[in-house]
Amino acid sequence: MSNLRLRPADMETFFATCPRGLEAVLADELTALGAQDVRAVEGGTGFRGPYALCYRINLESRIASRVLWRIGQCRYRDENDIFTVARKLPWAQWFGPAQSIRVDTAAIKSPLRSLDFVTLRVKDAVCDVLREAEGDRPNVDTRQPDVRIHVFLNRDDALFYLDTSGDALFKRGWRTATGDAPLRENLAAGILKLAGWTAEQPLLDPMCGSGTFLIEAALMATQRAPGLNRKFGFEKLRNFDAKAWEILHRQVAAQENKSIKTMIYGYDRSGDAIVDARQNVAALGMEQRIELKQCSFEDSKAPAPAGLLITNPPYGVRMEELDDLAAWYPTLGDILKQRYSGWTAYILTADLRLAKIMRLQPSRRTPLFNGALECRLFKYEMVAGSMRTPRSNR
Ligand SMILES: C[S@@+](CC[C@H](N)C(=O)[O-])C[C@H]1O[C@@H](n2cnc3c(N)ncnc32)[C@H](O)[C@@H]1O
Repeated sequence: MSNLRLRPADMETFFATCPRGLEAVLADELTALGAQDVRAVEGGTGFRGPYALCYRINLESRIASRVLWRIGQCRYRDENDIFTVARKLPWAQWFGPAQSIRVDTAAIKSPLRSLDFVTLRVKDAVCDVLREAEGDRPNVDTRQPDVRIHVFLNRDDALFYLDTSGDALFKRGWRTATGDAPLRENLAAGILKLAGWTAEQPLLDPMCGSGTFLIEAALMATQRAPGLNRKFGFEKLRNFDAKAWEILHRQVAAQENKSIKTMIYGYDRSGDAIVDARQNVAALGMEQRIELKQCSFEDSKAPAPAGLLITNPPYGVRMEELDDLAAWYPTLGDILKQRYSGWTAYILTADLRLAKIMRLQPSRRTPLFNGALECRLFKYEMVAGSMRTPRSNR
């Protein structure tokens, strides 16, 4: 078994991944959670801290996708260099042959031709080390592995990580109904942060689908940690400190502020979507905090004189769908202008034509990625009478 001792004073190096475009808000969040030497790069944020910090960040981060713990690093020229270093890492300190593994390799500017071959060599190294240490090798399970190993290659260096999250952190453990194209929870939470939403502001998603924005907002407002209902990868590692985790979990659960008032509204023209949203809201016991109504945007009224409207409207793939959307965008702009003056609207879309066809001038456009899909978050300050793009500019 493990002879690994982790003294609280030891500083470890981590990397938290996130949807591209959210790195800066993730860096702010990690700093607030106690991370040090926080450095945002494309796709995530590096940071340092005592090992137990990864428990807190997995539990409390709303924006991170995964928290990776760096366990090794080397210069490399070819796959053999990587294999040699992987052979020297003390894998048996972290897990044993009875636990299944998965290895993933990612690279930026690596001269190596096959990342699959790197994955294979690292897997071989892990199996060799455990067979020598404990007489058996772990199985590979790409679907539900106990332990995930990540190898990241840049031009000169190979970095080895253990994944402390397990399932990606956008899986909060409350979603029972997915509906049609739900947003990832951490993307929704990051957009609420980018928009600067605070619990005192009315919030409306008029095309709420399964309710992701609304639920993330309610969790933020009540300071309920997103990870209270799920398991994490670090629980399967041999250095897992169950006592410290239990204490932290209890403390963080007690932070929830049940007395806070929220003004969170969700509409959707689809009855099925509202049923899904209700089911998800109920799974969290948030029925009193989020008001849901079946209603089309065209028939909607602002639920307050001012507030924040956040939504991701339907998007099309096929030609006719794209044409239908293009024909509908001017109506979307008209309704915003006529019924939502005084509101600030944020629209997330992968359809980069939307802003132009809608004929409202965005005050900000932020590139964001929904998985591999490039999107824009358009911001509109709905001040009555001042927004229309003049006809000559169209
Ligand atoms: C991309 S989905 C939103 C997904 C949502 N953000 C989630 O996380 O589940 C778009 C939603 O817009 C709704 N919708 C489409 N046209 C609408 C309209 N004119 N008024 C209101 N809702 C509409 C659809 O029913 C669908 O649920």
